[in-house]
Amino acid sequence: MRIEQLAAPGVQKLSAYDPGYDPETIRQMLGLPRMLELGSNENGYGPSPAVTTLLKKRDFADAIRYPDAGARKLKQAIAQRWNVDPNAVTLGNGSHELLVLIAETFVAPGDEVVFPQYGFAVFKLAALGSGAVPVQVATLPRDGNQPFGADPDAMAAALGPKTKLVYLANPNNPTGTWWDRTTLARFLVRVPKHTVIVIDEAYREYVDEALVPDALSLADLHPHIVVTRTFSKAHGLAALRIGYAISNPALAAVLERTRLTFNVNLYAQAAATQAIADVAHVERVRAANAAERARLTAGLKEFGLFVFPSQGNFVLVDFGRPAKPIEDALLKRGVIVRPMGGYGLPTCLRITVGLPGENEELLTAVAAVLAEDLA
Ligand SMILES: Cc1ncc(COP(=O)(O)O)c(C=O)c1O
Repeated sequence: MRIEQLAAPGVQKLSAYDPGYDPETIRQMLGLPRMLELGSNENGYGPSPAVTTLLKKRDFADAIRYPDAGARKLKQAIAQRWNVDPNAVTLGNGSHELLVLIAETFVAPGDEVVFPQYGFAVFKLAALGSGAVPVQVATLPRDGNQPFGADPDAMAAALGPKTKLVYLANPNNPTGTWWDRTTLARFLVRVPKHTVIVIDEAYREYVDEALVPDALSLADLHPHIVVTRTFSKAHGLAALRIGYAISNPALAAVLERTRLTFNVNLYAQAAATQAIADVAHVERVRAANAAERARLTAGLKEFGLFVFPSQGNFVLVDFGRPAKPIEDALLKRGVIVRPMGGYGLPTCLRITVGLPGENEELLTAVAAVLAEDLA
């Protein structure tokens, strides 16, 4: 018997999440002086300067103690920022952990978990890991205004007595597509009451399209909405691994039963408490990203490529031919982007919107690679 067969049936069916390249490891392998990391949708603008100051000031003498398992200060800060009850907040070691925790907590083997076909990869992993049946719903076509975006009617049609969980991301990674307020509201009221709905807003802070709702403003439309957010993206704290969920406090209390007690470390708690208060920093990041996203999109379109509209800090690009040789050629030039074969989009690459100079470098590298004979 292979060891793999000892795993739970759902685990046997899943492949580990592809985290992309570690820039330092690949840099050493390729023997390059530096890498341009545009593969993981991090925030090149970095965290709030107040966070950096705070972390530099610490002497780490408190590393000997466990952190506050209840993360009282941080929950208070998040609650104050979004005008919710502190008991509505659940913290995770990244929002990835929360997405998995929600499935572990609410889904039993044989239940169905509904999400869009090109939805964030963790949705399927979390479903399979919990022994659930993943129901991947066909998306809208590529030639509409939300190319490969979630199809609300198809999603609603997929819901049934066995649906315990729905995942959707707004905006979605990797497509960059979004749900507008009316569409999302109409969908939420169609979801049965026995179902938990996760609205993954990892990229919420980057949204600049007024029609895209803050999911917290829709929480009254269904009793079991869980909104997940992260400090990894616009807050620039990906390395600290911290995210949060907001739901009704009764639901949060159930999540508290399965959450690992000290899942969010002391320094992440302290940094996030400071970060959430620096509203001006997040606004600067949003504005800079929006301008650069538009410039990067226009630059890539000039090469004749199909660039998906995006409300995140990344764009999905369809090269109209297998993208693997293009990815490899970019890598040789020191540019990391994210392949999309795992999503069933082998002609696409996902590119993070970087700093202005980085985007310039990316465009130059793409132009050079497209001019090469990659046959
Ligand atoms: C849509 C979406 N949700 C959640 C996450 C998880 O992020 P983290 O675990 O860093 O909070 C990501 C990361 O890329 C993402 O793209």
